[in-house]
Amino acid sequence: MKLAILSRNSKLYSTRRLIEAARARGHVVRVLDPLRCYMRIAPDGFAMHYKGRPLTGVDAVIPRIGASITRYGTAVLRQFEMMGARTPNPSDAILRARDKLRAHQVLAAKGIDMPVTVFGDNPDDTDDLLSMLGPPPHVVKLSEGTQGRGVILTEKLSASRGTVEALRGLYANFLVQEFIAEAQGADLRCLVVGDQVVATMRRQAPEGDFRSNLHAGGSAEPVVCSRAEQQVAVRSAKALGLGIAGVDMIRSARGPLVLEVNSTPGLEGIEAVSGGDVAGRMIDYVAGLRR
Ligand SMILES: Nc1ncnc2c1ncn2[C@@H]1O[C@H](COP(=O)(O)OP(=O)(O)O)[C@@H](O)[C@H]1O
Ligand SMILES: [Mg+2]
Repeated sequence: MKLAILSRNSKLYSTRRLIEAARARGHVVRVLDPLRCYMRIAPDGFAMHYKGRPLTGVDAVIPRIGASITRYGTAVLRQFEMMGARTPNPSDAILRARDKLRAHQVLAAKGIDMPVTVFGDNPDDTDDLLSMLGPPPHVVKLSEGTQGRGVILTEKLSASRGTVEALRGLYANFLVQEFIAEAQGADLRCLVVGDQVVATMRRQAPEGDFRSNLHAGGSAEPVVCSRAEQQVAVRSAKALGLGIAGVDMIRSARGPLVLEVNSTPGLEGIEAVSGGDVAGRMIDYVAGLRR
């Protein structure tokens, strides 16, 4: 197949591994900077140019679209979809997953368990909103945060209220959750490809923090996930319409709780920890997709 990887940087580990895995399987692969793709939209057809030249005959697209360019990047991907390219992660699915409120609503509607979550708009409703959640500690999260930035633990009701008011003052979108203390600063990442979990890792927050993100100083270790955990991961990716996803969960007294579903999961940490050829699994999956 003729494969395009939408990525701003062909030197990133994940992008390099995908190129390598695709070439090893005899595919033609090209990395395209989504911000250099531009398009013609008209009822007589869709066209795409890249750095001054037309782009045609792309069979499949693997999007690796960063959070900062979600809007433009998904528009480029949508154009490829309309031109007949197949993709494991369609533009609509990426948009669904990126918006935490929306993703939580979609997952809960499918019966997937998660920390109980509330959100609201008017400051007059803050007290009642927090009472819908139950007693603190709470976790306040920016709706569009990543890498653990914008995730705050509030131990007292006054801190929850103050944090919510401060974020409202900044016109930030946020949600508030019950704090799952028994997770003890650890989370699980399940890398889903199609109907399968192809690699897993456990991340542990550094001493004194509850956020296990590697960017926040967390460490990664191998882990064996139960069948139930793997099923939750696969169902979560499916609920959002993602063929490839990194599903983050925490272990709680009532079972696995989904925190978020990442549509552009990084490969470096999880390939190192699991020892698996995740890039190869992704390429094989994309090659087998039907239009
Ligand atoms: N409700 C919660 N209870 C306990 N720990 C949490 C909760 N929500 C998040 N965490 C911890 O904080 C980390 C970051 O939260 P997450 O929702 O994944 O935001 P981000 O998109 O910034 O990674 C998680 O990996 C987990 O370790
Ligand atoms: Mg996370």
